[in-house]
Amino acid sequence: MKTAKTKKKSVKDIIKKYDGDKTAMIAILQDVQEEFRYLPKEALSSISKQMEVPLTRIYEIATFYNAFSLKPRGRNLIEVCAGTACHVQGAANLMDRLERDLKLSCGETTKDKKFTLEEVRCLGCCSLAPVARISGNIHPNLTQDQIPKVLTNYK
Ligand code: FES
Repeated sequence: MKTAKTKKKSVKDIIKKYDGDKTAMIAILQDVQEEFRYLPKEALSSISKQMEVPLTRIYEIATFYNAFSLKPRGRNLIEVCAGTACHVQGAANLMDRLERDLKLSCGETTKDKKFTLEEVRCLGCCSLAPVARISGNIHPNLTQDQIPKVLTNYK
Protein backbone atom coordinates (compact mmCIF):
# COMPACT_ATOMS: atom_id res chain seq x y z
CA MET A 1 0.00 0.00 0.00
CA LYS A 2 1.24 3.45 -0.87
CA THR A 3 1.89 5.92 1.89
CA ALA A 4 1.09 9.62 1.67
CA LYS A 5 4.80 10.27 1.20
CA THR A 6 4.99 7.86 -1.75
CA LYS A 7 1.95 9.45 -3.37
CA LYS A 8 3.39 12.95 -2.99
CA LYS A 9 6.67 11.78 -4.52
CA SER A 10 4.79 10.24 -7.44
CA VAL A 11 3.05 13.53 -8.20
CA LYS A 12 6.38 15.30 -8.00
CA ASP A 13 7.91 12.78 -10.39
CA ILE A 14 5.05 13.20 -12.83
CA ILE A 15 5.45 16.98 -12.84
CA LYS A 16 9.19 16.54 -13.31
CA LYS A 17 8.57 14.24 -16.29
CA TYR A 18 6.93 17.19 -18.05
CA ASP A 19 9.49 19.71 -16.76
CA GLY A 20 6.67 21.49 -14.94
CA ASP A 21 5.24 22.63 -18.29
CA LYS A 22 1.89 24.27 -17.56
CA THR A 23 0.66 23.52 -21.09
CA ALA A 24 1.03 19.80 -20.30
CA MET A 25 -1.59 19.94 -17.54
CA ILE A 26 -3.92 17.43 -19.22
CA ALA A 27 -1.08 14.93 -19.68
CA ILE A 28 -0.01 15.46 -16.07
CA LEU A 29 -3.56 14.83 -14.83
CA GLN A 30 -3.79 11.73 -17.04
CA ASP A 31 -0.59 10.37 -15.51
CA VAL A 32 -1.77 11.16 -11.99
CA GLN A 33 -5.03 9.39 -12.68
CA GLU A 34 -3.21 6.40 -14.09
CA GLU A 35 -1.15 6.24 -10.90
CA PHE A 36 -4.04 6.59 -8.44
CA ARG A 37 -6.99 5.49 -10.66
CA TYR A 38 -8.59 8.87 -9.92
CA LEU A 39 -7.53 12.43 -9.10
CA PRO A 40 -7.12 12.72 -5.33
CA LYS A 41 -7.67 16.17 -3.80
CA GLU A 42 -4.20 16.09 -2.24
CA ALA A 43 -2.61 15.40 -5.62
CA LEU A 44 -4.43 18.33 -7.22
CA SER A 45 -3.38 20.63 -4.37
CA SER A 46 0.18 19.44 -4.74
CA ILE A 47 0.14 20.11 -8.50
CA SER A 48 -1.31 23.56 -7.84
CA LYS A 49 1.46 24.44 -5.37
CA GLN A 50 4.33 22.93 -7.31
CA MET A 51 3.32 24.36 -10.67
CA GLU A 52 1.92 27.63 -9.35
CA VAL A 53 -1.37 27.12 -11.13
CA PRO A 54 -4.59 28.12 -9.31
CA LEU A 55 -6.39 25.09 -7.90
CA THR A 56 -9.63 26.35 -9.44
CA ARG A 57 -8.03 26.15 -12.92
CA ILE A 58 -6.96 22.55 -12.28
CA TYR A 59 -10.48 21.64 -11.14
CA GLU A 60 -11.89 23.29 -14.27
CA ILE A 61 -9.80 20.95 -16.41
CA ALA A 62 -10.45 17.91 -14.21
CA THR A 63 -14.22 18.40 -14.34
CA PHE A 64 -14.40 19.35 -18.03
CA TYR A 65 -13.17 16.00 -19.32
CA ASN A 66 -15.33 12.97 -18.61
CA ALA A 67 -12.26 10.74 -18.58
CA PHE A 68 -11.15 12.30 -15.29
CA SER A 69 -12.63 11.14 -12.03
CA LEU A 70 -12.53 12.99 -8.73
CA LYS A 71 -14.00 9.95 -6.98
CA PRO A 72 -11.90 6.87 -6.12
CA ARG A 73 -12.34 4.09 -8.67
CA GLY A 74 -12.01 0.35 -8.33
CA ARG A 75 -9.12 -1.72 -9.68
CA ASN A 76 -11.06 -2.35 -12.89
CA LEU A 77 -13.03 0.33 -14.68
CA ILE A 78 -15.97 -1.02 -16.67
CA GLU A 79 -17.13 1.42 -19.32
CA VAL A 80 -20.36 0.55 -21.08
CA CYS A 81 -20.74 2.39 -24.36
CA ALA A 82 -24.03 4.24 -24.63
CA GLY A 83 -23.34 5.72 -28.07
CA THR A 84 -25.99 5.42 -30.77
CA ALA A 85 -24.77 2.17 -32.35
CA CYS A 86 -24.38 0.46 -28.98
CA HIS A 87 -27.68 1.84 -27.71
CA VAL A 88 -29.48 0.40 -30.74
CA GLN A 89 -27.80 -2.97 -30.15
CA GLY A 90 -28.95 -3.17 -26.53
CA ALA A 91 -26.26 -1.49 -24.42
CA ALA A 92 -28.90 -0.68 -21.81
CA ASN A 93 -29.35 -4.42 -21.21
CA LEU A 94 -25.61 -4.74 -20.55
CA MET A 95 -25.74 -1.91 -18.06
CA ASP A 96 -28.77 -3.44 -16.31
CA ARG A 97 -27.05 -6.82 -16.05
CA LEU A 98 -23.82 -5.30 -14.71
CA GLU A 99 -25.71 -3.21 -12.14
CA ARG A 100 -27.62 -6.29 -11.03
CA ASP A 101 -24.64 -8.65 -10.89
CA LEU A 102 -22.30 -6.16 -9.22
CA LYS A 103 -25.05 -4.80 -6.94
CA LEU A 104 -24.36 -1.16 -7.73
CA SER A 105 -25.56 1.71 -9.90
CA CYS A 106 -23.73 3.29 -12.79
CA GLY A 107 -21.03 5.60 -11.41
CA GLU A 108 -20.44 3.49 -8.30
CA THR A 109 -17.66 1.19 -7.12
CA THR A 110 -18.11 -2.26 -5.60
CA LYS A 111 -17.45 -2.52 -1.85
CA ASP A 112 -14.37 -4.67 -2.46
CA LYS A 113 -13.02 -1.94 -4.80
CA LYS A 114 -12.76 -4.48 -7.62
CA PHE A 115 -15.00 -2.74 -10.16
CA THR A 116 -16.23 0.73 -11.00
CA LEU A 117 -19.09 0.95 -13.48
CA GLU A 118 -19.42 3.93 -15.81
CA GLU A 119 -21.20 4.86 -19.02
CA VAL A 120 -19.30 6.42 -21.92
CA ARG A 121 -20.19 7.88 -25.31
CA CYS A 122 -18.78 5.94 -28.26
CA LEU A 123 -15.61 3.96 -27.80
CA GLY A 124 -14.80 4.33 -31.50
CA CYS A 125 -15.59 0.77 -32.59
CA CYS A 126 -19.27 1.08 -33.47
CA SER A 127 -19.25 -1.84 -35.92
CA LEU A 128 -18.60 -4.10 -32.91
CA ALA A 129 -21.64 -2.85 -30.96
CA PRO A 130 -22.60 -3.35 -28.26
CA VAL A 131 -19.24 -2.75 -26.66
CA ALA A 132 -17.86 -2.47 -23.15
CA ARG A 133 -14.29 -1.63 -22.19
CA ILE A 134 -12.93 -3.19 -19.05
CA SER A 135 -9.54 -2.08 -17.75
CA GLY A 136 -8.73 -0.88 -21.25
CA ASN A 137 -9.79 -4.14 -22.99
CA ILE A 138 -12.56 -3.89 -25.57
CA HIS A 139 -15.25 -6.56 -25.33
CA PRO A 140 -17.06 -6.54 -28.69
CA ASN A 141 -20.55 -7.82 -29.46
CA LEU A 142 -21.07 -8.35 -25.78
CA THR A 143 -24.21 -10.06 -24.56
CA GLN A 144 -25.74 -10.10 -21.10
CA ASP A 145 -25.10 -13.82 -20.81
CA GLN A 146 -21.37 -13.39 -21.44
CA ILE A 147 -20.94 -10.89 -18.61
CA PRO A 148 -20.42 -13.28 -15.65
CA LYS A 149 -17.67 -15.15 -17.54
CA VAL A 150 -16.01 -11.96 -18.78
CA LEU A 151 -15.86 -10.55 -15.24
CA THR A 152 -13.98 -13.63 -13.99
CA ASN A 153 -11.01 -12.51 -16.11
CA TYR A 154 -10.48 -9.49 -13.86
CA LYS A 155 -8.88 -9.60 -10.40
S1 FES B 1 -21.48 3.77 -30.30
FE1 FES B 1 -20.53 2.28 -29.10
S2 FES B 1 -18.56 2.16 -29.96
FE2 FES B 1 -19.50 3.76 -31.07
